[in-house]
Amino acid sequence: MRELAGCTAVVTGAASGIGLAMARRFAAEGMSVVMADVEAAALDEAVANLPSAAEPVLSRVCDVRDPAAVAALAEAAEAMFGPVHVLCNNAGVAASGLTWEQSVADFEWVLGVNLWGVINGMHAFVPRMLSGGHEGHVVNTASMTGIAPGPAVGAYGASKAGVIALTESLQHDFAAAGSRLRAHVLVPSFTASRILESARNRPGAAPGPESTGRDDLGPDDAVRVAALASMAQAQSAEHVAAVVVDGLRHDRFWLIPDPRAMARVERRHREMRADAAAVSIEAI
Ligand SMILES: NC(=O)c1ccc[n+]([C@@H]2O[C@H](COP(=O)([O-])OP(=O)(O)OC[C@H]3O[C@@H](n4cnc5c(N)ncnc54)[C@H](O)[C@@H]3O)[C@@H](O)[C@H]2O)c1
Repeated sequence: MRELAGCTAVVTGAASGIGLAMARRFAAEGMSVVMADVEAAALDEAVANLPSAAEPVLSRVCDVRDPAAVAALAEAAEAMFGPVHVLCNNAGVAASGLTWEQSVADFEWVLGVNLWGVINGMHAFVPRMLSGGHEGHVVNTASMTGIAPGPAVGAYGASKAGVIALTESLQHDFAAAGSRLRAHVLVPSFTASRILESARNRPGAAPGPESTGRDDLGPDDAVRVAALASMAQAQSAEHVAAVVVDGLRHDRFWLIPDPRAMARVERRHREMRADAAAVSIEAI
């Protein structure tokens, strides 16, 4: 979709970080924006700080883990602005720990927001977007951790790998259905945001540590030291938002804000090729 002005975008996790930067960028492009987040006070502040010339904005407190709440968001968005053209399933949280030590509650929370939030968004919005027959985009936020995870990010990496697979399949399904919708997967690397304070939104949890912008910081010293060293390379959320807008205009499926991350992807594929080539068991 080359012309975004006059269209409507919905962004979940819009009160902070990448979601806030996308909402602000969409507003600057002349789009009507629906900003949804579970954190009411931060959402109010985000809306209050939008540039005064921004297009109309609807803000909704919405927990993306709740299908009924996301369905109500879709209803409210259409009631206010008509058809939705760009849906950004972006809300996300991170929790770290040795994979076998991460609790069932950790997995449920991280997968609930990061993967089920995307599934709920898809169920609530895509049938509406399809029925309009218009052009549109679904942008699901994953992470490089979903392709090339490091240590201590089992739940987070699993959720993001799920988002990538889901979005690849969604893209095929849109094409098979002959629809005018396009799917995109956003795969950020280290980005300055409040992701390391994710516990602030965990039901019943105390506030988390100060943000360093890493999305895969582990609890042990080695991981922490490596993460802090990487911070010098963190990208801004505004850069990520610019990559999203450019990707929508040029119809790119993979929205990869940091090309340096491709070295990790290539290393993974090299290892896969090497292991596949080394198989010596005769095919049955
Ligand atoms: N920051 C990074 O380094 C990085 C890297 C790769 C991917 N990501 C992904 O980017 C997305 C945005 O994260 P961010 O880095 O801007 O972090 P952030 O914490 O600054 O923003 C995330 C937003 O999601 C909201 N949220 C949390 N739980 C929610 C729920 N249940 N329902 C609705 N909203 C909820 C939070 O209130 C917050 O406003 C996430 O999906 C994250 O996994 C971040």
